[in-house]
Amino acid sequence: MANSRRRRISPGIPLTDAHRTLFASVQKRGAQSVCFFNNKGGVGKTTLVANLGAELSLNFEARVLVVDADPQCNLTQYVLGDEEVLETYNNSNDPESVYSVIRPLSLGKGYGTNLPIRQSEAFGFDIIIGDPRLALQEDLLASDWKDARGGGMRGIRTTFVFADLVSKAKDLKYDFILFDMGPSLGAINRSVLLAMDFFVVPMSIDVFSSWAIRNIGNTINIWQRELKTGIALAEDPAELESIDRTRTIRFLGYVTQQHRERTEEDADLDVVESDEASETRRKRIVQAYEEISEKFPEQISDSLGRFLDCVEINPFLGNVRHLGSLAPKSQSQHSPMISVRGTGRFVQSRKQAREIYRDIARRYLENLEKFLR
Ligand SMILES: Nc1ncnc2c1ncn2[C@@H]1O[C@H](COP(=O)(O)OP(=O)(O)OP(=O)(O)O)[C@@H](O)[C@H]1O
Ligand SMILES: [Mg+2]
Repeated sequence: MANSRRRRISPGIPLTDAHRTLFASVQKRGAQSVCFFNNKGGVGKTTLVANLGAELSLNFEARVLVVDADPQCNLTQYVLGDEEVLETYNNSNDPESVYSVIRPLSLGKGYGTNLPIRQSEAFGFDIIIGDPRLALQEDLLASDWKDARGGGMRGIRTTFVFADLVSKAKDLKYDFILFDMGPSLGAINRSVLLAMDFFVVPMSIDVFSSWAIRNIGNTINIWQRELKTGIALAEDPAELESIDRTRTIRFLGYVTQQHRERTEEDADLDVVESDEASETRRKRIVQAYEEISEKFPEQISDSLGRFLDCVEINPFLGNVRHLGSLAPKSQSQHSPMISVRGTGRFVQSRKQAREIYRDIARRYLENLEKFLR
């Protein structure tokens, strides 16, 4: 069994009874698959999947499977140690990865049998690692999508490749199945989204994120409609019996990230600007951020409200503030921010990270509980 109990490190804040009760109530409803998606790049998707996954796994002691469905493989690089990355990708031409899940289909062999799962001791979760070769499957998924929309079984089978993965992972009794995705509205992401129970939108506080939300809402809607038509026309409906076709994806919430680094230009300006001028400039930037983020709830409700299934949740899951060099430190140590080793300023930023991810985990569970009630 892949996710055997392993040694737990102590990543800070103990759980309260309320947290335990909340988790137990979500856990008993069975595994939920959730993808973290925004077609805008660099908004903190990978960082959130890795650190929320670690919080749920290390502190809530949940059984978590994380899937790196982004051909950039940033999540894999973050989670695996440097040696493990080299050993896996340098010494083997055919590492066991998310590509192994999809490859048999492109060879016309149907779905593979076993999931290529490995464990991360530092993050506490299990992972299906990413693979740059996944990008090669964009074409297959795109051409099979045309077939799927017309009811072709080959197309439908390919489109449901991640649904098959999720159903196998659910059989393995995980509590949470989390997918990291690349920043695109391409065929791989379509196939992932159509397989999920829920999606979370990580977003940066800028005007482009507002546009991205609109794209996400409209696109998922069109995809779901087209798939429904394809399924209604399916050449062999009996083959679809094992797939839950009544389910549509629901919106679990959004996380804002404020991780703009001070640029060299900022530093230069500090030298030439008087204290007063730099304070005015700082206030202007803060105000601009506030004006943009104030509009988010309404924009979210307009664009993504239709994915709430009339369930009343607060979709705001939290704000990840800029945590300075804790993020790169956590990447170089290949451990989550809540258990980065370090003294001095790292003590304070690690404490903040522990509070931030605990809060996000709590709201995430609260929303799941409302949907699953
Ligand atoms: N809270 C934070 N504080 C400081 N830096 C952060 C924080 N969160 C993320 N970052 C940094 O921001 C960068 C982008 O984050 P991340 O890779 O998670 O975004 P992404 O949305 O997954 O990007 P992509 O679209 O390329 O997949 C990373 O270099 C990461 O280290
Ligand atoms: Mg990423």
